[in-house]
Amino acid sequence: MLFQKLSIKKMKQQQKHPKYPERCLDKPVYFTHEIVCQNINVWADPFWNDMTDEEKSKVISKVSSENKKSLIFENKDLGRDSTYNGPINPKGKTGIVGRGLLGRYGPNYAADPIVTRFNKEGILEMVAIQRSDTGQWAIPGGMVEKGDTVSETLRKEFNEEALGNTLGTGDAEYVNGVHDCSKIKSKEDSDYINKIKTLKNEIDKLFSNGTTVYAGFVDDPRNTDWAWMETVAVHFHIKDDSPIHDIELRAATDATSAKWYKIKTRSDLDSLYASHALFVTRAIENGLLIDKRFYDIWTKLAY
Ligand code: BGC
Repeated sequence: MLFQKLSIKKMKQQQKHPKYPERCLDKPVYFTHEIVCQNINVWADPFWNDMTDEEKSKVISKVSSENKKSLIFENKDLGRDSTYNGPINPKGKTGIVGRGLLGRYGPNYAADPIVTRFNKEGILEMVAIQRSDTGQWAIPGGMVEKGDTVSETLRKEFNEEALGNTLGTGDAEYVNGVHDCSKIKSKEDSDYINKIKTLKNEIDKLFSNGTTVYAGFVDDPRNTDWAWMETVAVHFHIKDDSPIHDIELRAATDATSAKWYKIKTRSDLDSLYASHALFVTRAIENGLLIDKRFYDIWTKLAY
């Protein structure tokens, strides 16, 4: 059966991040980026030795029970800071200790919306953004911020990175520069507001009907021995007759460009950021249950 033939590409070797020092597996390099230090208690944890026992046990309790066995205590092998007794990367050594560019010790959570459609020529496309850090094409995902749920993050990141924040965050922000709806006078403004309201409804509908295709550890170039990425990737498919089938994409925040990214061959996926090829492959597999046109592309990805 073809289903069983699909072997997902093994996670790539730890990739290089442009802002990271050379990794050294035998003698790990200590690296916590200054941006993390500047954001302690904003989006970053305090330094391990500055945390109270209660704070430390909160961090440790975030590590899933599956990964708990990789928590080490008083480990003397970890290079510079042998007093660190916090969470350790469950996938093994990365050649860097410290948090790198990640704010949290242990898992740092993200959410990835995979939005697909078949274009007019019947080619599968997904919404992708070009990341400003590595320059690679990627799913428009992002970090789950404190107080936000995964589903809020999925929608928020999609709006920010791929729709140029068109949806704003509330009625008052619908029209650029006009923050109070009562001040809107011209017909163009109200037409625009209606257009955005419709768009917002359609996006809400789309995002209320997704399928989780991946949840867990990500092979991210920012991972270190002490901090790593975990994500939830959710697939949303736009049908041919949907009013947002031809939705216009516009990059903002961390993304330098946004586009409908064609998926025709395996190599279109292999060049994507971090483990995104794996998530998109899973989305395509999920697509088999939605539209038979996914079958052609899916057979091309199986090897
Ligand atoms: C990205 C996600 C990615 C995650 C793990 C986040 O910064 O926005 O798209 O899946 O990192 O690599």
